[in-house]
Amino acid sequence: MLSAVDVIRAKRDGHPLTDEQVHWVVAAYTRGDVADEQMAALAMAILLNGMDAGETARWTQAMIDSGEVLALGDVGRPLVDKHSTGGVGDKITLPLAPLVAACGAAVPQLSGRGLGHTGGTLDKLEAIPGWRAALSVEEIAAQLADVGAVVCATTPSLAPADRKLYALRDVTGTVESIPLIASSIMSKKIAEGTDGLVLDVKVGSGAFMKTEAPARELAETMVRIGGAHGLATTALLTDMSVPLGRAVGNALEVAEAVEVLRGGGPADVVELTVALAREMLALAGITGVDPAAVLASGGAYPVWERMIAAQGGDPAAPLPVATHVEEVLADRSGVLTGVDAFAVGVAAWRLGAGRARKEDAVQAAAGVRLLAGIGDEVTAGQPLLELHTDTPEAVTGARAALDGGLRIGAEPAARPKLVLDRTAADRTQQTASAHRS
Ligand code: URA
Repeated sequence: MLSAVDVIRAKRDGHPLTDEQVHWVVAAYTRGDVADEQMAALAMAILLNGMDAGETARWTQAMIDSGEVLALGDVGRPLVDKHSTGGVGDKITLPLAPLVAACGAAVPQLSGRGLGHTGGTLDKLEAIPGWRAALSVEEIAAQLADVGAVVCATTPSLAPADRKLYALRDVTGTVESIPLIASSIMSKKIAEGTDGLVLDVKVGSGAFMKTEAPARELAETMVRIGGAHGLATTALLTDMSVPLGRAVGNALEVAEAVEVLRGGGPADVVELTVALAREMLALAGITGVDPAAVLASGGAYPVWERMIAAQGGDPAAPLPVATHVEEVLADRSGVLTGVDAFAVGVAAWRLGAGRARKEDAVQAAAGVRLLAGIGDEVTAGQPLLELHTDTPEAVTGARAALDGGLRIGAEPAARPKLVLDRTAADRTQQTASAHRS
């Protein structure tokens, strides 16, 4: 007879959990037979003592088994998805899903809303008039077969144990456990039924992982879980020390994504979109099509229009515009050497682009626009940023968040390298540094 206290004690004392213990405790917690305080104690023991690769794979399976695996059936193309661990200005899913569909794969992206200083993909798309996040499994499958790309809300039946456990971890200081993060992300992606998965693991001030070592460990853990579950998984480690692109905030990011889909847009957004598309197409077994050329020609834009329209959105409708816009000026002349992603993310959040609690509403038009890039010569008094909000009283807090976040120096500077490393299934046993250039 298993008991929650025995499972907690085992992990507290540093023992690996058995398959039976893992399956039982996750299922019993989902049913409500293991109490929140017991699961909180177990999560803390896991945070402190870790889980090995076998335990983590089984924990992931138990979370998948707590719900249903999406039955998408045959949509006529290989299914491949991307997950980002979240960053400031990270609108990459918006151009990426239509691009990969334009190149011949199908992208079933079940997504979440943002919490804290990183935005959620659904919040961004909800800035488009009429667009609807909630789809049934039948609607998802039909849109995949027809358009090739779906970005929508996760269905309630997908890994319900994760929903409950993630909320508990959020309030018990146990989010930062690599096995728990990895199993949380991978259980949802495996349950989604994709055939291939590319992970964009962010590193830097604006990311969940501030330094490379834990980010690499997270990437390798997730790639290993994918392998253990027969899901072809590749991870890119990418810079999040500066915001991606020039727009941070929901409608502002949609507008920038549309520029990219029309063949323009900031170079870093284009570079990362293409890098991730190449990885996704490789996993889908699609060769002979160059995503860079498709994107530059505007070839993904018609897929975007159909993807938005299929979910009730009007891709031609004007996006919401903030009622109040203020500039942040350069305080001296020189070269813009740094734009801190965390500072910009918090500023956008305070302006109304993000939420502090799950139930909060976001402002579609709020956010930050960067008017200069790293390496640009600037003169004292020149506008560097625009702050957009419908609540002008939020500007003081946004300005405070930006204090020290913009650096102006004398030396030439360039945007930090974007793609830092790559982890694929065949090298999770090797040291990642062997691959770094
Ligand atoms: N995102 C998730 O989905 N789960 C985590 O545990 C952390 C980030």
